[in-house]
This record gives sequence, structure tokens and C-alpha cells, in this order.
Amino acid sequence: MKKQRYVWGLGWSSLIVLFLFLALYACVKVQKSAMPPATTEYEDPTQIPQPGPPYARANRDPEVVLHDLPRDSKGAVDWVKAFKENKIKPTGSIEPGKPDIDPFDFNVEIKTIGEMPDVVFPHYPHTYWLFCNNCHPRIFIMKKGANPYSMISISEGGESCGRCHGRVAFSLSNCSRCHVKPKE
Ligand code: HEC
Ligand code: HEC
Ligand code: HEC
Repeated sequence: MKKQRYVWGLGWSSLIVLFLFLALYACVKVQKSAMPPATTEYEDPTQIPQPGPPYARANRDPEVVLHDLPRDSKGAVDWVKAFKENKIKPTGSIEPGKPDIDPFDFNVEIKTIGEMPDVVFPHYPHTYWLFCNNCHPRIFIMKKGANPYSMISISEGGESCGRCHGRVAFSLSNCSRCHVKPKE
């Protein structure tokens, strides 16, 4: 009986296919249960990562990472306040073992033309992050009053203070962080 044998044949092969599916399903299930819980494997987007390995497991969500840092009047992170309040402790250099140089506590007044309060340039926060030769003598000659300044060349030309401010340091739109000293 040709027809019946054909039906039997179909029955066996579908049983084998079904068995293979079940075996595959079981494998996936076992593998899944052998995996550690998700929280130790992946970052929790609401938590700051704990220090230590694995180092690649960093939380890159600024809402979380920058959450506890002080802000300036424009709402930007105030990195100067952050280091003064011990909220951050950057290493002195990326070269291991290189000694850290103490910041240089020395202000220079820069009188403005016109009504704007005068500018006070603080060496302290700058030399906390930078070396003297990042500025002297290529950007600023090391002598009070020896450098030409104008707000236009700073903001539009990206010269002098504008080499960093508005690029890697706080924004030029925050006038009162530089123009601090009211005219007498
Ligand atoms: C990173 C520091 C910094 C910031 C931020 C800053 N200024 Fe100045 N500003 C200076 C310096 C330095 C001078 C040069 C002083 C001089 O010779 O007049 C100056 C000069 C000026 C002058 C005098 C005229 C001129 O063109 O030199 C005006 C007006 C002025 N700024 C307005 C502003 C306003 C408005 C803002 C905010 C939108 C601002 N500044 C933000 C550093 C800054
Ligand atoms: C971010 C830039 C920057 C860095 C970094 C910097 N300076 Fe200055 N320095 C200035 C500016 C701006 C002036 C003011 C010049 C002016 O009045 O035009 C100045 C002025 C000076 C003056 C002249 C003071 C005077 O009364 O004539 C000395 C000295 C000086 N700096 C020493 C240093 C030393 C030492 C370091 C490193 C420990 C250093 N600076 C790092 C920007 C910088
Ligand atoms: C070589 C880069 C560089 C140059 C040039 C530079 N700054 Fe800065 N400045 C910084 C950095 C970096 C900080 C600290 C980080 C921040 O506040 O964003 C800073 C911080 C400051 C602060 C500290 C504000 C506070 O709250 O204590 C003032 C004020 C300031 N800069 C003014 C100036 C003025 C005025 C000039 C030009 C005469 C100038 N800077 C030129 C890089 C620079």
C-alpha cells in the first residue's frame, strides 16, 4: 500500500523535526539561565558605575554622571567649583608617576574699555589644569598690559581667551564669570 507508507514517512520526518526544535529550545533555555542577572552584566542607566573593573562598564548618560556636580548661573557644569569642593579629583598628568605641579595663585586685572565690569584673570584654576607654556608666551606675553584684547576678537576671532573659552572651557555667554570687578 503505497499511500499509507507515504503518510508514515511524513509522520516520522515531522516527529524528527519537532524533536530537533525541542532540543534547540532546551539548549537556549539552559544557556539563558546560566547567564548572570542583567544588572551585573550591563550598566544601570540610573546609577553611577562603581569604580573598578570592568572599566568599559561606564555610564555615559550625562543626566546621571553630571547629576551631583555644581552648576554655574547658565546651568553649565562649574568645573572650578567642582574641584574646589572636592567633587572631582583629576590626575595631574596622563603620564603615570609624573609629579603634580601645585596651581599658581595669582590674579591679573584686565581693565575693560567702557561700562563692562573689569576682568580678573585668575591663574589658580588655569594652572590647576594647564602648564604655564600652554599660554606663555604664544597666547599671552608674560607681562601685565602687554597683550591686546577685545571682546570681538575673543568671541568672533576665537583669539586670546577665546582660544579655550567657548570651546573647551566655560562659554563666552557667561559674561559675569570673567567681568567680575565693577568699575569704581
Ligand atoms: C572668558 C572671559 C570673558 C567672557 C566670558 C566675556 N568677556 Fe568680555 N572681555 C574679556 C576680556 C579679557 C576683555 C578685554 C578687556 C579690554 O581690553 O577691554 C573683554 C572686554 C569686553 C568689553 C569691552 C570692549 C571690548 O570690546 O573690548 C565688553 C563690552 C565686553 N567684554 C562684553 C562682554 C559681554 C557682553 C560678555 C557676555 C556675553 C562678555 N564680555 C564675556 C573677557 C571675557
Ligand atoms: C590660561 C592661560 C595662562 C596660563 C596657563 C598661565 N598664565 Fe600667566 N598670564 C596669563 C594672562 C592672561 C596674563 C595677563 C597678561 C596681561 O595683562 O595681558 C598673565 C600674566 C602673567 C604674569 C605677568 C604678571 C605681571 O604683573 O606682569 C606672570 C609673571 C605670569 N603670568 C606667570 C605665569 C606662570 C608662572 C604660569 C604657570 C605656573 C602661568 N603664568 C600660567 C595667562 C596664563
Ligand atoms: C589655554 C586655555 C585657556 C585660555 C587661553 C583661557 N582660559 Fe580661562 N579657563 C580655562 C579652563 C580649562 C578653565 C577651567 C574650566 C572651566 O571653568 O571651564 C578656565 C577657567 C577660567 C575662569 C574661572 C572661573 C571661576 O569660576 O573661577 C576664569 C575667570 C577664566 N577662565 C577667565 C579667562 C580669561 C579672562 C582669559 C583670557 C585673558 C582666559 N580665561 C583664557 C582655559 C583657558
